[in-house]
Amino acid sequence: MRDLLIENLAEIATPLGCAPRRGREQGEIRRVRAGELLCRGGRIAFVGSRAERLRDFGPLPEAERLDGRGGTAVPGFVDAHTHLPWAGAREMEFAQRLAGRSYEEIAAAGGGILSTVRATRGASREQLVAAMLPRLERMLACGTTTAEAKSGYGLALADETKQLEAIRDVARLQPIELLPTLLAAHEVPPEHRAARERYVALVAEEIVPAVAERGLARFCDVFCERGVFSAAESRRVLESGQAHGLLARLHADEFVDSGGAELAADLHALSADHLMAVSERGVEALAGSGVTALLLPGTSFFLRKKSWAPARRLIEAGVPVALATDCNPGSSNTESLPNVIQLAVFELGLTVEEALTAVTLNAAASLALGDELGSLEPGKRADVVVLDEPNLFHLAYHFGVNPVRSVVKGGHEVYRAGNLLLSH
Ligand code: NIG
Ligand code: FE
Repeated sequence: MRDLLIENLAEIATPLGCAPRRGREQGEIRRVRAGELLCRGGRIAFVGSRAERLRDFGPLPEAERLDGRGGTAVPGFVDAHTHLPWAGAREMEFAQRLAGRSYEEIAAAGGGILSTVRATRGASREQLVAAMLPRLERMLACGTTTAEAKSGYGLALADETKQLEAIRDVARLQPIELLPTLLAAHEVPPEHRAARERYVALVAEEIVPAVAERGLARFCDVFCERGVFSAAESRRVLESGQAHGLLARLHADEFVDSGGAELAADLHALSADHLMAVSERGVEALAGSGVTALLLPGTSFFLRKKSWAPARRLIEAGVPVALATDCNPGSSNTESLPNVIQLAVFELGLTVEEALTAVTLNAAASLALGDELGSLEPGKRADVVVLDEPNLFHLAYHFGVNPVRSVVKGGHEVYRAGNLLLSH
């Protein structure tokens, strides 16, 4: 495998280390002006100035070159919360929401997650793979090099398995690395509505062990929310996951305080996600627990909520904050982490530096991959995004556009934005 030298960059911007960054550290970014980045054997070998590179590695005549042309290199983005394998679309519900109906009302009337469950149960594994490919292409074009992907629209062993197999299959067809999550406890399916505890038992005692045994998921997730799964039910499912080797993460306190943050802390989950309605007690439980607060501001925006997760309070309390798209057809229909960064800066009050850490190192750490991904440092995997911008701040300052020019995964350029080639 040839070396790849990314040269002529205006800036390289990255958090440092392998552990999630919390408090003031979340905004500490190493910025190298006029830098170069050397990838060797799929890993980062060097980050620094041209003079230092010439001194340490020589002229490297054999290396492949990527001209950074005054752009900015940042770590490949990690999207740690997505619901990628779905079929169908929900634009009619979207229209109802624009007319004033709430997400919760639509769900209570049999729409919402259950409408996507009907479409996903009716799709084959191959159809799910075909539906995911263009989503992954858009994610890559927006700078995502690693993504978590949840089941949760099957709600029965065969259909959850089909979704997880589709994730496994599509991972082989495109460059983004996918980490699968079992989310069988996303909703109670219609056939179990009369005796919901039977469904909780089915998930904890049959679906979790069967999926874990086949190695189809790395994480287990639950939608812990009023009207969906209580904290006690969520605990039962997540503890079963942990007993079978699936690391816990959960949808916590999205719409109302449901004790989700406290549960995440108690179980030492990797992440507590959403947290739009987290209580002060929940924030205090997260502080010092090692759980990452994974915030999804695309959901507040897309559902036209006036409430946003208390990101500043979480950072002040010393909780590491990560950001993700929540890419799904109901509450956040986007593949774009640059868009999410912009929302986080404008609406959650993160600094641009904090937001960069949130989509790179802290997101990687929430997937237990902080040792491998999330920063541009020698030894880490060579996943790099070159932005068509002169420095990091343009990532939010230049809003509503996709700033990504090139994406490098494992030392290979896997995406380049279309060039308008005009000959005059
Ligand atoms: O993260 N909150 C639960 N799950 C998704 C929504 C899924 C859907 O509406 O289809 C979320 O917001
Ligand atoms: Fe979600």
